[in-house]
Amino acid sequence: MNCFNEKTPDDHECLLMMIKKTFQNDYYPNEKLLMIPGPTNLNQKVLKSLSLPLLSHTDPQFYQLLDHIQNGIRYLFQTKNSYTFAITGSATIAMETAICNLLKPGQTLLSLVHGYWGNRVASMGNVWVSIHTYRPNLMYVCHGDSSLGCVQNLHGIGQLCHRYDCLLIVDAVVSLCTTPLAMDQLEIDVVFSGCQKALSGPPGIALISFSDKATEVIKSRSKTYPVSSFYMDINLVAKAWGLDNNDVHTYHYTPAINLLYGLRASIREIINEDLANVIARHQKAKHYLEKRIQNVGLKLLVQESDNRLAGITSVLIPDDIDGNRVIQFMYKKHDILIGGSLLATDPKVPKFWRIGYLGVNADLEKIDRTIESLQEAIQKQRNKFKAHL
Ligand SMILES: Cc1ncc(COP(=O)(O)O)c(C=O)c1O
Repeated sequence: MNCFNEKTPDDHECLLMMIKKTFQNDYYPNEKLLMIPGPTNLNQKVLKSLSLPLLSHTDPQFYQLLDHIQNGIRYLFQTKNSYTFAITGSATIAMETAICNLLKPGQTLLSLVHGYWGNRVASMGNVWVSIHTYRPNLMYVCHGDSSLGCVQNLHGIGQLCHRYDCLLIVDAVVSLCTTPLAMDQLEIDVVFSGCQKALSGPPGIALISFSDKATEVIKSRSKTYPVSSFYMDINLVAKAWGLDNNDVHTYHYTPAINLLYGLRASIREIINEDLANVIARHQKAKHYLEKRIQNVGLKLLVQESDNRLAGITSVLIPDDIDGNRVIQFMYKKHDILIGGSLLATDPKVPKFWRIGYLGVNADLEKIDRTIESLQEAIQKQRNKFKAHL
């Protein structure tokens, strides 16, 4: 029903009727198995935590929650950094926060993006040439590239950046908890991530941590170079989290309190399983999925095993198969969703699916179900084609 396309005597009445009808029942989405690059399915304990009683953001119990979360993120990132926070917003807000707090007008940001055929993984030689050529103040590197399913080796990059007086920002949105990442040891200045990937938590809450070097830059921003965003100004975020002011928490904005419950519950699950075990589970799932894919006659997009990310695997779509129809079949028939390619419109890039197995979905039984459904969808298309011959 569309009130504005119909000739009704009273559009407002019509709209009201339509709205009442739409909202008559509770909203219950069907349960799906999300084998995509994120979001992944929620951990059940995390799901429960989201409906805990709401606290005010000025309640001492809430401040305690902030302390827990700070320590939890330090554990996940393997850091002692004081400036470690969760920010209300998706991981993109953390990316923007890092840049707008650290980059001053006239300075250079280098984003390390390698061509498709290099599988988006840079060698130390390439990194050196880029830094030496552009002399950036900030460099951004994506640790786990979800668009292709590649992992960037970070060893030595932090040290190299610091030799050139450059700060290193690492996107760990999909690599966190799937791949080892020791922020302090690797001399990374900013790491950020999201809750909706391997943490099996809700989307809409981002994790971020700043090294002492980066913190110094943020604190020293004078009135001549104020951070261009109020919401993302880390000086204000730090005050809200009770840092820099003897545990006095200053109002900045109302945080997503229930999502913070969810984040705490997600971190708790990781701590209970142990971070090293969670990473090992993702690595095991990666090898298992790769083997199963190859055993059913499909090919992987990323050639070098060491360059392949755990948590997201790209699989080439055979020439005789319509990849989108496969995705639709799996979703309709088996309630399993796999991802398509973000590069589908680029004619130079072959067609591929992205299969995610993040967080609770890094599970061999779920991978089996996914591969069986994928096989059935492919077979069905081939049978139909044969029947037409
Ligand atoms: C590697 C990577 N970085 C950043 C983002 C952006 O995260 P969000 O969608 O939570 O803003 C994504 C999202 O999938 C991602 O995979």
